[in-house]
Amino acid sequence: MVELALPKKSKVGTGKTHPKPEGATNLKTFNVYRWSPDDGENPHIDTYYVNLDDCGPMILDGLIKIKNEIDPGLTFRRSCREGICGSCAMNINGTNTLACTKGMSEVDGDINIYPLPHQPVVKDLVPDLTNFYAQYASIKPWMQTQTPPPPDRERLQSKEDRAKLDGLYECILCACCSTSCPSYWWNSDRFLGPAILLQAYRWLADSRDEFTGERLDNLEDPFRLYRCHTIMNCANTCPKGLNPAKAIAEIKKMMVERQG
Ligand code: SF4
Ligand code: SF4
Ligand code: FES
Repeated sequence: MVELALPKKSKVGTGKTHPKPEGATNLKTFNVYRWSPDDGENPHIDTYYVNLDDCGPMILDGLIKIKNEIDPGLTFRRSCREGICGSCAMNINGTNTLACTKGMSEVDGDINIYPLPHQPVVKDLVPDLTNFYAQYASIKPWMQTQTPPPPDRERLQSKEDRAKLDGLYECILCACCSTSCPSYWWNSDRFLGPAILLQAYRWLADSRDEFTGERLDNLEDPFRLYRCHTIMNCANTCPKGLNPAKAIAEIKKMMVERQG
């Protein structure tokens, strides 16, 4: 586990307001959470003005413009800029979502941006997802088999069995759902959370995987699975329109069915 310097106080203060770009009339205000482990300051909110007449339409476009033209120190993750890599997940006006697929025009008034909630912060909008990825590794997210593969082809799957993975394989592990789940906030050391449980079900639901029993054994625990109380924040926030709560319910059903 990486040792992190954490903010001294949880109180978030008012930071710097950067000047408005000269001559611009079509402005959007960005209020952005800032914290650095290196300067000894408390977390604060910096304000930036983005000229919409000279910027792409997405919130990520605005952040990139701020970083390129106003404040190169502003730190955030991004890669694909099309909702596939999951890197740019952050809390925008109270909702966890992807900055690259959220349009600036979808937000009335100021755009308020914080890192994903209830995770340690590495810097600014970058959360430390070490625990999240360790939990992902713990479910062995790859196909496990005992029988040898057919000698002349891949392991095949019927169309019906393949369809059982719809709504699961699309998950991009952005962590928006887990970091919106109150059960995960309070027990993220022991509860796997909606993203990882959806991934666990993705392998339980795969007709080619032969380790269903072992996978269920690994989840049979008062905390790892059963801390989900069906609060549904996860399904409401998922930027890919997935329903982790439903996947969790399916795992619970499999647990009951195997007890017979
Ligand atoms: S349904 Fe379960 S996993 Fe989803 S937000 Fe609620 S408690 Fe968390
Ligand atoms: S289920 Fe949705 S919100 Fe959760 S990690 Fe996957 S894509 Fe992100
Ligand atoms: S940059 Fe890849 S999902 Fe937003």
